[in-house]
Amino acid sequence: LDSSDRKFPPEYDGHFDRLLITREEIKDRANALADLIHKDYKGKRPVLLCVLKGANNFYMHLSEALQDLCQGFYTEFLRVSSYDGLNSTGMLEIGGGLKYKDIEGKDVILVEDIVDTGHTLFNLLPVLKSEAKPLSVECCTLLSKRLDKPAHYSAKYVGFTIPNHFVIGFGLDYNELYRDLQDIWVISQKGIDFDQSTMH
Ligand code: XMP
Ligand code: MG
Repeated sequence: LDSSDRKFPPEYDGHFDRLLITREEIKDRANALADLIHKDYKGKRPVLLCVLKGANNFYMHLSEALQDLCQGFYTEFLRVSSYDGLNSTGMLEIGGGLKYKDIEGKDVILVEDIVDTGHTLFNLLPVLKSEAKPLSVECCTLLSKRLDKPAHYSAKYVGFTIPNHFVIGFGLDYNELYRDLQDIWVISQKGIDFDQSTMH
């Protein structure tokens, strides 16, 4: 991929090892995923449930593509965070204003930015199913990492399967930086070491 024509804020200069996926490729792939979803949900109105913050950018593309296909859907958002403190059970806290009533009895499509080990979804899905009692739950993720061992959870709809590097951009962050990038990049050592306190 040619990264010379890509735009990014000047403070990110040198923070990438290489360009991985362009926003044009993401857009095309979102259209293809919307086609698949439309085939599976024709005549239904699934809830597109966005997992904040990372999936926000992908969510916009995907919902636009579904609109082009005249596929109806509901819009909901949630945020997950790991319980901190002594709890090491991998339990998640579901927040972000989602009311379980809003997805009760509905077909839910969880929209994620990335499935890495699959731990998050492996823990989130049972809670969602038992607490909110949706009719069905599937996951649509922009990225899925290629790992040496099997993931705890695999999404039904996957945008791109990527090598096992830490990636940033298009919603994906490192310490809350890089979400504002148009494209997806592999972070460099300079990016990892960057001292944010030098910026406002
Ligand atoms: P898993 O599937 O391992 O993923 O539970 C948990 C969360 O980890 C984050 N993650 C990443 N974020 N670049 C990122 O910006 C990455 O390469 C990456 N890998 C994992 C992400 O929030 C995911 O939901
Ligand atoms: Mg995530």
